[in-house]
Amino acid sequence: MSAAASAEAGLSGTGGCPYRVLRNPDTVREVLHRPQDFSPANALLAVTPLSGQALRILQKARFALPPVLASNDTGTHTGIRKVVAGFFTPAKVAAMEPRIRGLARESAARAAQRLASEGSVDLVQAVAADPPAVIMLEMLGLPVRDLPALKAWSLDSLELFWGWPDADRQLELAHSAADFYRWLRELVLEFVASPDPNLFNALARHGLSTPEICSLGYFLLIAGQETTTQLISTTLFRLAEGSRGISWSEAASGPKARDLVRHVLATESSVPTWRRVAEQDTYLDGRAIAAGEEILLELTGNHGFPWSENVDTDAADADHSGTGRPGPTPYGLAFGSGIHRCLGAKLAELEAVVVVHETAAALTGVRLQDSNPDWIRLLSFQAPRTVVVEPG
Ligand code: HEM
Repeated sequence: MSAAASAEAGLSGTGGCPYRVLRNPDTVREVLHRPQDFSPANALLAVTPLSGQALRILQKARFALPPVLASNDTGTHTGIRKVVAGFFTPAKVAAMEPRIRGLARESAARAAQRLASEGSVDLVQAVAADPPAVIMLEMLGLPVRDLPALKAWSLDSLELFWGWPDADRQLELAHSAADFYRWLRELVLEFVASPDPNLFNALARHGLSTPEICSLGYFLLIAGQETTTQLISTTLFRLAEGSRGISWSEAASGPKARDLVRHVLATESSVPTWRRVAEQDTYLDGRAIAAGEEILLELTGNHGFPWSENVDTDAADADHSGTGRPGPTPYGLAFGSGIHRCLGAKLAELEAVVVVHETAAALTGVRLQDSNPDWIRLLSFQAPRTVVVEPG
């Protein structure tokens, strides 16, 4: 997607829901398994059309997101996916567990110290923010550098593409996305030339151009860590709230931490929806779908979006209410399904379980200081911005 293309494809903005919303898990799965009928070409398009001024800011940075992976509906997807998947094989993910645990323990210990010395601590900043980013960069053979900037850029870019920023906010966000892109381009050029194995030189060897590598890097450097930070944030919030039938002390045991992470993945995952567009006139559950129709797939429970109230959903039979107790809840769609299924699913779940477990073990007896924090609420991303706890 070029920034210009994203604006052209920008949605009506008339207040009505520009998407056909699908909620029934069987129907959602069917759409994901019919890529010839339902293309991911719209997966990364801006939800809110970008203004000319915002587009010019992006163009000055040569910002462009040609389809390579998540939004690629051509035959090149399989080969590119294989290159990326090679960095996250089950064996490589399993081998990272001690490193993940080490980072989680360090951050949890620092959080415990801060709690003792300052009387409260924000678990989003203290334990959820950094470990997923450090792990992702290390697994990709990239340097762990400029983490605070990477975290801020990630949130800004998610808002620019999946939010409803007004004209002024678009300019701020476009400047941030342009800064991120310039930084990324330098990183790509540096690491394509490096003799050591890394994602960028692997993609260059596969034949990708610099803009294509930047496009993939832009998506992956956000998707590969901020989504996991958000999953950890929601899980710790629900744990501290005590609303999901698992107590703080119980989560200090690994299996309970896993139950809770899986419960959040089913009921209010960090990526609750994802998009597709009908490639041709077709049928779904006996209903006609016109070529070009944009579809919003509800993958998990969610906190709603601006048009939730008057959406014509396909069925009301999915229970994503978020009120159920943890247990063997199905969370099979939280990472998508089919040929674009998330390549980081195992890693994300492992990181979330380990961080929640180690945090619960290191901070005994805490409760929420702010039970009504501000939330990130975008079309496809959701999580509390802060999880501030105090001694219980
Ligand atoms: C809680 C954390 C995460 C969630 C909820 C999540 C969710 C998703 C979803 C819903 C998709 C779209 C799937 C589809 O179209 O069928 C996706 C795609 C993807 N995710 Fe994740 N993700 C997470 C973490 C990660 C991590 C940690 C990585 C890498 C380290 C990653 C890499 C990818 C990639 C590369 C794709 C595109 C795959 C393709 O198009 O072939 N994700 N993710």
